[in-house]
Amino acid sequence: MSEEKYLTFALGKGRLADKTMELFESIGIFCPEMKDKKSRKLIFTNEEKKLRFFLAKGPDVPAYVENGAADIGVVGEDTLIEEDRNLYKVLDLEFGKCTMCVCGFEKSRELLQHHEFIRVASKYPRIARDYFENVKHQTVDIVKLNGSVELAPIVGLSDVIVDIVETGSTLRENGLTVLEEIRPLSARMVVNQVSMQLQNERILDIIERLKEKI
Ligand code: PRP
Repeated sequence: MSEEKYLTFALGKGRLADKTMELFESIGIFCPEMKDKKSRKLIFTNEEKKLRFFLAKGPDVPAYVENGAADIGVVGEDTLIEEDRNLYKVLDLEFGKCTMCVCGFEKSRELLQHHEFIRVASKYPRIARDYFENVKHQTVDIVKLNGSVELAPIVGLSDVIVDIVETGSTLRENGLTVLEEIRPLSARMVVNQVSMQLQNERILDIIERLKEKI
């Protein structure tokens, strides 16, 4: 019998990875090695089931999957839209729910109403540009940041930000508010296009079993 190939999963580090493993465990996909929170290891194997898992920065997950370094990925829809990669988006996992929003000081609300030229800071320049250019028809200057985006309007780097809002506490604790909602988001499972053909049965079986649990 030919040796079974490993099925490799790329997971976005942090909250999504924990929730993903909880869901996967409910259908018998598990990796005891990953439970050690103190470990700095990046790749984990379940030899018995021929499964491999690695943890990557969320925005890097689509690249790993598109290029076939991982067969399956789990990542926020925000990242998928921003990265715009060639992948199969197979499942809404219905967790990691949040909303992409334009946020800022309440007094900045009027800047969004008269097509004024404004500066927008975001970890999501593609999403921000698309929203302002194609939905609002407002000319903006986008500043790409890599985190703690809420700082930008506070220190005067931008007029508003485009960012994900989950509980709203980061905004509240920094005196900011949601000014406009762009779209709801959740965690998604994605599959490499070649893997979908070569490991079709195995991957479809996982998708079907996950659907029953969601
Ligand atoms: C995300 C996001 C907001 C915050 C929203 O940042 O960019 O800052 O979470 O969550 P909340 O509505 O529950 O407060 P993240 O924690 O990923 O850190 P980062 O700013 O360093 O990217």
